[in-house]
Amino acid sequence: MDSPDQISLFSLAEPEPAIFDPALIPTSATIPIPPGTYPSMEAMSVHCNQCFRCELGKTRTHAVVSRGNPHAPIMIVGEGPGQNEDETGLPFVGKAGQLLDKILESVNLTAEDVFICNVVKCRPPKNRDPEPNEVKACKPYLPEQVRMVDPKIILLAGRTAVEGVMGSKKVQITKIRGQWLEWEGRLCMPILHPAYLLHNSSREPNSPKWLMWQDIQVVRSKLDEIAPDR
Ligand code: URA
Repeated sequence: MDSPDQISLFSLAEPEPAIFDPALIPTSATIPIPPGTYPSMEAMSVHCNQCFRCELGKTRTHAVVSRGNPHAPIMIVGEGPGQNEDETGLPFVGKAGQLLDKILESVNLTAEDVFICNVVKCRPPKNRDPEPNEVKACKPYLPEQVRMVDPKIILLAGRTAVEGVMGSKKVQITKIRGQWLEWEGRLCMPILHPAYLLHNSSREPNSPKWLMWQDIQVVRSKLDEIAPDR
């Protein structure tokens, strides 16, 4: 039988859970975050909640890293957290998020099918657009999320998401929405931001809601084509 000493020796050998040493966290926006830095989304979330790569770190309540399935076939990237998201630490939980969930449900996509995140992880005060330097500072986190989730399809919700991810400038989202694009070897589609749909209740052809309905059906068909067992 094990003596108490043997048991405590054995438990000493157990690996400690990974924690980040705050002293090692890069606080400069110019410090790269190499691929493979994070072993898990949880580790990244710990890090983001200690991040001061830009000024938004000073005013956030919570960094908003993700919700949904960390191995989902579809990744949805929004702009940045609003008040509800800052308070809860979860993306797309306000009115725009509730509408997003309904849009997904309309084509039988569930929380298992999607991973939802943002280009910018901390709330810009008063819901202003994130500044270019804030997008730049936060940018290295997203490729890590893409690496860990390895989605088959990435949906870019709104102009800021397209510009932030693809580096394009002066994007007209109404012109490029619904088109399949390639980014880093991945299949991407720009879509309208759900908040944009909230301001226009029309369902007439070419209205924002109608356009979103067209796009999400195309996404559903593509997923059925490339992952028929989902
Ligand atoms: N709008 C976004 O772009 N992201 C959120 O998380 C919430 C609203």
